Amino acid sequence: MSTESAISGVNPNVDTSRRRFLTLAASGMGVIGGAAVVWPILASLRPSAKAQAAGAPIAIDLAVIEPGQKFTTTWRGKAIWVVRRTPEMVASLTKVTGELVDPDSASSKQPEYTQNAARAIKPDISVLIANCTHLGCIPTYRPDHPAPDVAANWEGGFYCPCHGSKFDLAGRVYKGSPAPVNLSIPPYRFASDSQIVVGEDPSAA
Ligand code: FES
Repeated sequence: MSTESAISGVNPNVDTSRRRFLTLAASGMGVIGGAAVVWPILASLRPSAKAQAAGAPIAIDLAVIEPGQKFTTTWRGKAIWVVRRTPEMVASLTKVTGELVDPDSASSKQPEYTQNAARAIKPDISVLIANCTHLGCIPTYRPDHPAPDVAANWEGGFYCPCHGSKFDLAGRVYKGSPAPVNLSIPPYRFASDSQIVVGEDPSAA
């Protein structure tokens, strides 16, 4: 999803599984009308197609992501996830470390400023490259728990249906998965408390 969609509040890539269908249906016409009005303005703010193809940084409005939700966009041709983790989700990260291949992310790819317990600049905001580190499939977001169809002691995370890799809510891979390392993390920085920029390190601010 592009930056302009995040700004406009039309968020087809936010995982809204908890919301009711009827609520979406009732608000649909209003959203369409509003989008038509703001589109010319947003189009003028959009990075050029050439800049996007070259991997220009993208800004993401965090206000559109509710606690527990996953937002999906793309950067440099890769799917990018942003998850607003609840305190419970952050707490779950310490419960599973004994079951992980690389709990300290020593052999995984991430900026050094995210090589910490939460794999994040701020624990409640997780930013991940969504491609499974096995063969590149996009895993399914499974924050629900317990979830015996995924694992007996599942605390929430991501499940790759292609060959069964499992990742926790920081993208750390479970032992026994075909994926060899954790999900990667792109460079990113906080432009403000409510906006991140993917593709730039904090030192770029
Ligand atoms: S691509 Fe994810 S488990 Fe194979």
